[in-house]
Amino acid sequence: MTPNDTSKGAVGTLPPGRIESVREEAVVRVWELPVRVIHWTVFATVIVLSITGFYIGRPFLVAGAEPGFTMGWMRAIHNLSALVFMSAILGRIIWAFTGNRWARWDQFLPVSKERRENGRATLLFYLLIRREIPRVVGHNALAGFAYLLLFVMFLVQIVLGLALWGLQYPGSLLWDSTNWVFSLTPIPMARLIHRLIMWFIWGFVIHHVYSAWLADSEERSGIISSIFSGRKHVPTDRG
Ligand code: HEM
Repeated sequence: MTPNDTSKGAVGTLPPGRIESVREEAVVRVWELPVRVIHWTVFATVIVLSITGFYIGRPFLVAGAEPGFTMGWMRAIHNLSALVFMSAILGRIIWAFTGNRWARWDQFLPVSKERRENGRATLLFYLLIRREIPRVVGHNALAGFAYLLLFVMFLVQIVLGLALWGLQYPGSLLWDSTNWVFSLTPIPMARLIHRLIMWFIWGFVIHHVYSAWLADSEERSGIISSIFSGRKHVPTDRG
């Protein structure tokens, strides 16, 4: 069957005209509910943590003595969203060992020959050396590895955040279990790294949304809507 073949039986009931391509596809439920809920929880908490964290670092709303309790509220919301964020990350780590094949830990590491080959081919595509985007059902190997680095940043961010939180309660369990951080780095440096990681995360987000859009338009697999619905449209020749 050729793309332009509009004879009855070839492309069913499609109206006559120029058909750019015809392919057989399967609808695959790639992202299970926990993956999607965790993804959007992380997204929402990163926004709230960034706004409140920025305010804690630079209280821009009031000049001089604070009339209300703005800083207190900002800290409370920051700490509360940090708890939600940490639960989401913990949930995703557990799901990496219990979820479906596209959610599993080996999607984030180039452990198999196939994944390494896919990572190499995807890199060539991003470098504009290869024309066709390599075919995968779940994350491509390069994206998977980027997510692993992102999770490492999240974990460092969590440890620094807990240690900085512990400073407010000297002698508490939180302080006792996290003040080792300050034997590795002085407090101002810990604050600086905590702030820098926030900017790195936003750098990731800009690239992430762009590459999701790029993959969506190249693959036509509905990748962006897949992170809402869980379903991707995958050509049946794809593994
Ligand atoms: C704070 C913001 C965000 C972070 C930290 C983030 C992080 C991630 C991570 C870690 C994954 C892998 C999912 C998993 O296996 O658990 C992922 C997948 C995905 N995200 Fe995001 N995301 C963010 C925002 C967005 C936004 C705004 C969009 C909307 C376009 C988006 C679209 C997607 C899509 C389409 C996938 C699945 C495709 C793929 O494999 O790359 N993300 N994201």
